Amino acid sequence: MILVVGGAGYIGSHLVKELVEKEEVVVLDNLSTGHRESVDSRAIFVKGDLGNEEDLDMIFKSYPIKAVMHFAANSLVGESVTDPLKYYENNVAATLTLLKVMTKFKVKNFIFSSTAAAYGIPTVEMIDETTPTAPINPYGHSKLMVEQILADFSKAYGLHYVVLRYFNAAGAHESGVIGESHDPETHLIPIILQQLLGQREKISVFGSDYDTKDGTCIRDYIHVTDLAAAHILALEALLEGKKTAEVYNLGNGLGFSVKEVIETCEKVTGKQANVEMADRRAGDPARLVASSAKIDSELGWKAQRNLEKIIVDAWNWHQNQRY
Ligand code: UFG
Repeated sequence: MILVVGGAGYIGSHLVKELVEKEEVVVLDNLSTGHRESVDSRAIFVKGDLGNEEDLDMIFKSYPIKAVMHFAANSLVGESVTDPLKYYENNVAATLTLLKVMTKFKVKNFIFSSTAAAYGIPTVEMIDETTPTAPINPYGHSKLMVEQILADFSKAYGLHYVVLRYFNAAGAHESGVIGESHDPETHLIPIILQQLLGQREKISVFGSDYDTKDGTCIRDYIHVTDLAAAHILALEALLEGKKTAEVYNLGNGLGFSVKEVIETCEKVTGKQANVEMADRRAGDPARLVASSAKIDSELGWKAQRNLEKIIVDAWNWHQNQRY
């Protein structure tokens, strides 16, 4: 049985939908940002908190958990700057409680959702896992602190782990049954699609004077179903004992500017966006593009879905959003 912490969130719920085809799954989520409706009905759902030792004891006593996949976190860069306590408490301290209880119950396998924010403002075109980590906000720090804790637990207690550093997760399940739903929404693609649906007046482009081809920020957008597939490969590698302590980037290896993303949304939907140029948003690096060569060569993972497919699936979801 696999415990998925944060399995009612955007990325966690997409992973659960794939994982239930192969394994028995228990989801733990406090529903602070997740949605109960997004959890596949084949998974057991427990409403509880990963920072609460009693909730965790109950789960590890009740179910034969062989691995934990941890998606539960706060993930807004701006909020992390104004409220770092929330980020260190929920992302670091609560994760430490989870790892403590796992150690107590001798559960050895762990998959952790990390982020491109671990790299800060990189100076290389293609970021690989050897690129120095240098977060520029508490969110990135909180994720990197957990990475450090995992490395130390691995050496001291024999924990086996895989860290996955996501670039820009986007898109929705092809079925249209689950997708991205944040409140407030801050991510580019949902904001564009909401504007095209008439749910927002305009799209603000945060900065058009960056040192990039058209002056807007470049990101590497990765389909949430491709992310889910990478988690399943990482889980298999852990369970088969092929990997014991690894970090992988997950991206498409292609950078798209904010303007290009808006244009692709217009093309996919056949609608015209209402766009205004605005000031830069604090903490945005000009360019974040991943090399995922390491996970390709070691686990045979490659992103299968391009930006257009991401937007087609997201559009399908947003037109009939269920939660
Ligand atoms: N953007 C706009 N207008 C908007 C929203 C976003 O111009 O209304 C721009 C941003 O400035 C950025 C790009 O679109 O240049 C993408 O922004 P997102 O907010 O969609 O994503 P981020 O790249 O800021 O954030 C993602 C993850 C974070 C992670 C971060 C790492 O969502 O969890 O990458 O830098 F921390």
